[in-house]
Amino acid sequence: MGDHGLSLLGALADALDRRLGWRERRARAIADLSRPVPPHVGWAYTLGSTALALLVLQIATGIALALHYQPTPEAAHASVAHIQDRVRLGWLVRSAHAWGAHFLVALLLAHAARVFLTGGHKKPRELTWVLGAKLLFITLALAFTGQLLPWSELSYWGAVVGLEQVRITPAVGPAAGDLLAGGPGVGPATLTRFYVLHILLLPALAAALLAAHLALVRRLGIAPLASTAEEDAQGHDALCAGGDPYVPHHILKEAAVAIVAAAALVTAAALWPPELGARAGRTTPPGIRPEWYFLAVYQYLKYWPSTIFGVPGEKFAVCLLIAATTAFAALPFLDRSPERRPARRKLALAVAGCFLFAWTALTLLGSLSENELSLFGHHWRFDTYGRPK
Ligand code: HEM
Repeated sequence: MGDHGLSLLGALADALDRRLGWRERRARAIADLSRPVPPHVGWAYTLGSTALALLVLQIATGIALALHYQPTPEAAHASVAHIQDRVRLGWLVRSAHAWGAHFLVALLLAHAARVFLTGGHKKPRELTWVLGAKLLFITLALAFTGQLLPWSELSYWGAVVGLEQVRITPAVGPAAGDLLAGGPGVGPATLTRFYVLHILLLPALAAALLAAHLALVRRLGIAPLASTAEEDAQGHDALCAGGDPYVPHHILKEAAVAIVAAAALVTAAALWPPELGARAGRTTPPGIRPEWYFLAVYQYLKYWPSTIFGVPGEKFAVCLLIAATTAFAALPFLDRSPERRPARRKLALAVAGCFLFAWTALTLLGSLSENELSLFGHHWRFDTYGRPK
């Protein structure tokens, strides 16, 4: 660009500054972003922004897929096959979108675990946690609704099983199931509704919650590894003395981890693209099971007796599940001790450890159930409860 072009740009910037005051705003934003983070903040604190980066990638690949996808039972499966086989790099975009869901759920679980371990959910960041928990639920709902869109056998039966579980919820279950499915079974109306949820309603809700979540993170700063009482007494800024400035130090760490995660995602997508499978409606494939993040719940629902105190066991189980999910979202109001240092929160960590153990065990049993495995020279077959036959 010549001198003339540069001076024209300068004049334009001056004119906009006189009208919008953007130079002062920029200086204030840079000063704010250069404030130090607490001294203990390191690599584990990059998971939230990495999730954000992958979310942006999900939106980009999702838009690219939507350009070719057709949301009707007659055309959906063929349009996905067309994306895979005929659209240039379509197979990679589809694979990256599918893998992105796994990466995002895993990252959010790891981010929530980091926050819990370092007491980041405690006062005054309770609302940040509640919004984050809602973002996790929306991400799971996005994964669930997205799975139906290819209209393959697996995606169809996944929706049937998922909606059955919604329907057994006491009181609101049947109405919620009908509202989601657009009728008693999974049909054309279900595909339309899941599509609207997947590309419009859930992303819009997620965007609003995310904006509030990130605004709170900026406003309150990252939690120091001190008790809430110490933070109250000394103030957040005093507890950040000696920490790295957010810009450029911590943000570079965030960028590095986000780039590695994106590279891992593209590598997985290129090496192991998901199969499309047969179109829905012909047969019921054997041994269908949900994705890994729903396996624990799927398996947990199997172990209940048919009735408990005259109430169907499944309903009892679903109520307990809703209570546990609500407790997770409301954690800051249950885990109220002022301590943040893990070594002084033995009870909270022990309870969380028990939950983690149960979740992992149920996930393993879920992956073994009605499956076969060759191990140490033996061939094992497992029943629906995950027991060797
Ligand atoms: C799309 C989803 C999410 C995004 C993009 C996101 C992003 C972020 C970012 C960038 C931070 C700054 C620190 C860090 O990265 O560790 C943060 C902090 C925080 N996040 Fe999230 N988050 C999400 C979901 C969640 C979830 C699922 C939870 C918990 C259930 C949660 C709870 C929190 C809390 C309480 C903080 C403040 C922690 C502290 O100050 O130590 N977030 N989030």
